[in-house]
Amino acid sequence: MRWLKKENHKIKNQLPVHIGIIMDGNGRWAKKRGLPRSAGHKSGANNFRKITRYCSGIGIKYLTIYAFSTENWKRPEEEVKFLMNLFEQYIKEALSDFQKENIRIIFLGDKSKFSTNLKNLIDEVEKASKTKTGMTLNIAMNYGGRDEIVKAVKSLGEEVKKGKISPEEIDEESIAGKLYTCGQPDPDLIIRPSGEYRLSNFLLWQSAYSELIFMDILWPDFSTKDLDKALNEYSSRNRRFGGI
Ligand code: FPP
Repeated sequence: MRWLKKENHKIKNQLPVHIGIIMDGNGRWAKKRGLPRSAGHKSGANNFRKITRYCSGIGIKYLTIYAFSTENWKRPEEEVKFLMNLFEQYIKEALSDFQKENIRIIFLGDKSKFSTNLKNLIDEVEKASKTKTGMTLNIAMNYGGRDEIVKAVKSLGEEVKKGKISPEEIDEESIAGKLYTCGQPDPDLIIRPSGEYRLSNFLLWQSAYSELIFMDILWPDFSTKDLDKALNEYSSRNRRFGGI
């Protein structure tokens, strides 16, 4: 296993188990260079591969990346189409590349809106990586934190209606059990590059006690050194989870 460089050794003891990343700033990165937004997404996708491999190499157990939100359909049709093609391309590559890597891929979000081809690819890659025992890579696509909670509440409502559970039995555990991240630990650390300071509907339930790190760097420029910086900052945080 590759490990963080010696000078960062102190990170080892306080390495987050689960990291969430909001990949933001592709459009601005392209604009700064006089390129179309699609070039920013392409560069962002390459960086996503690099950061994923790095996280897996240093021993992160869960990585959740925000690739497409329930609100991103509002973008121009051409940009949405480009992103969908990029996702298809990535999954095809992942199907061959990731055979060698011990990474499990799970998609978080409502798949019903995707093309049949994309839905099939998603099923295929989830199935193919199911037995992997290394890092779990969650790709949040057509994902919204509020939408996820609404779906969980509806599902519990159905169970109440059928008499399977009583309303009194509904608790935090039963709600968490209905989320896309069911069975996974909550993110310890959420990183948002690009200089925006908000969660934008990302892991709303799961982020209750996540440490948040906002960085003034656009996603395609976000390097493994920037990740190390965030990990160093995380290791100096005092997490109290409401205690003292
Ligand atoms: C936000 O930047 C980025 C997105 C909405 C798309 C993220 C997708 C990728 C990085 C593609 C790679 C993903 C996979 C799974 C292959 P923005 O467009 O909002 O940037 P801006 O705020 O500067 O306009």
